[in-house]
Amino acid sequence: MQQHKKYEWHVPFMKTGMAAVVALTLGSGGALAQSAPAVLFPEMNEQELRGKHIYDESAGDVGCQMCHGPLGNGSIEQGAPGIKGVLRSAFDSALSGAVPMMEFFTLNGKEQDDVFAYLQVLSKVEVLTYDPEATEGQKIYEELAGGVGCQACHGMDAAGIIGPDIRGKDPVAIMAAMKAVPDMGIIELTEAQVDQVAAYLRQLHEAESH
Ligand code: HEC
Ligand code: HEC
Repeated sequence: MQQHKKYEWHVPFMKTGMAAVVALTLGSGGALAQSAPAVLFPEMNEQELRGKHIYDESAGDVGCQMCHGPLGNGSIEQGAPGIKGVLRSAFDSALSGAVPMMEFFTLNGKEQDDVFAYLQVLSKVEVLTYDPEATEGQKIYEELAGGVGCQACHGMDAAGIIGPDIRGKDPVAIMAAMKAVPDMGIIELTEAQVDQVAAYLRQLHEAESH
């Protein structure tokens, strides 16, 4: 979780509005070839979508995001705390006038419930950084290695079939396996390619780990 926070602070959404947010689903093979940091939202119901609209733009005509950040992680500049997954008691107290900077909002009870629901969604959002190295690694992993791809034995999601779960394995482990595992003897990769595959395995691991 800590690790992902680090990424989120680097996402330059504030400058571009929400345009940089790409909703993306992980299909088979993990379609991660996006050119911007990818933000994965869980599927939202109508209430959560209404809350998102309030959060992103309509509250006070600027949206809560102006101070709390597009993904609810807070903003150091604005002195506004992270509020994704906030508890109801803290939410109610903040919206009932406890925070002077927030007094200009007039959200009715239903709108408050909507935003609150969306804040719970934000606590489940994932940010994946786009990594060109991982994109190369994905090609090697899915098709090129040994003419079949690592997926032939480790599965499209690298969770294991004939070979074990290798999500998150580093270059050293891959090198060692290429030398030691007889089934993997057909595979020849340069060190740079091993790094690329490792970058892809890291990405699969991050996508899986929450
Ligand atoms: C103009 C800036 C600004 C906007 C816009 C804003 N907030 Fe805040 N909010 C703050 C600041 C600053 C604090 C921290 C105040 C403090 O700690 O005394 C805060 C605190 C909170 C807290 C309390 C967090 C906690 O952990 O106690 C919640 C919840 C909250 N805001 C929700 C919202 C929601 C929901 C919206 C949109 C409807 C919103 N805020 C819009 C500035 C803003
Ligand atoms: C023909 C099948 C096959 C292919 C293709 C294959 N592997 Fe393997 N791999 C295995 C098997 C089987 C094992 C387990 C060997 C054992 O446990 O003794 C293994 C083990 C590993 C391990 C060690 C796992 C651990 O827990 O230490 C890594 C890392 C690994 N493979 C990476 C890869 C990568 C990366 C590729 C593609 C470049 C690849 N493998 C392609 C069959 C394969």
